[in-house]
Amino acid sequence: MTAILRAAPKISAETPPLSLRPERPEDAVAVEHLIDRAFGPGRFAKTAERLREGRKPLTDLSFVAWDNGVLVGCVRQWPVTVGDRPVVFLGPFAVDPAWRSRGLGAALIAKACAAATEAGHDAILLVGDAPYFGPLGFDPVPKGQVVLPGPVDARRILTHSLKPGAGEGLSGLVKAGW
Ligand SMILES: CC(C)(COP(=O)(O)OP(=O)(O)OC[C@H]1O[C@@H](n2cnc3c(N)ncnc32)[C@H](O)[C@@H]1OP(=O)(O)O)[C@@H](O)C(=O)NCCC(=O)NCCS
Repeated sequence: MTAILRAAPKISAETPPLSLRPERPEDAVAVEHLIDRAFGPGRFAKTAERLREGRKPLTDLSFVAWDNGVLVGCVRQWPVTVGDRPVVFLGPFAVDPAWRSRGLGAALIAKACAAATEAGHDAILLVGDAPYFGPLGFDPVPKGQVVLPGPVDARRILTHSLKPGAGEGLSGLVKAGW
């Protein structure tokens, strides 16, 4: 089964029967379930969660992928400030194992970045793996320049500039909200 899926051609965001669209309130339960399955209970211990707890994601900038009534992918984005600059914070981000390695993750990130650009934001910040996010346009922040509210491997703090130089210029403590 896995071999067949991996041999399938790369999909695009619009490949039928996939529906990729902004998150709606009624998606929330399925999104939580997919994130739980991807990360397990440890998700709530992550430093990034300190920037999300008790808040709602920016649903216009968050995307879900449905395949015939099954939620198979999601990416959420949140409002944070870095120093005194409003920035979009990306995560969690997950794809159902049955849909992995077919380009859906990259398509979700592309949608999230395009929506944030269209909304006029300067930069996206995330905590994630550079080998995955680097080819999608995310660069590591110089060590110590951006400080999260808890322990994080500095090599995993990545930004994507939506305006020239905006990501590299981020500096200071990251706080929840704008
Ligand atoms: C990360 C994730 C969302 C990618 O979804 P996806 O739809 O498979 O992504 P894509 O199809 O765009 O890319 C798949 C490729 O990225 C690679 N990849 C996945 N996670 C990676 C990581 N953490 N670091 C480096 N490469 C990674 C895969 O091996 C795959 O490579 P291949 O094409 O050579 O097989 C998915 O693997 C997932 O849900 N993982 C569990 C949750 C998670 O780690 N989320 C990200 C937190 S930063």
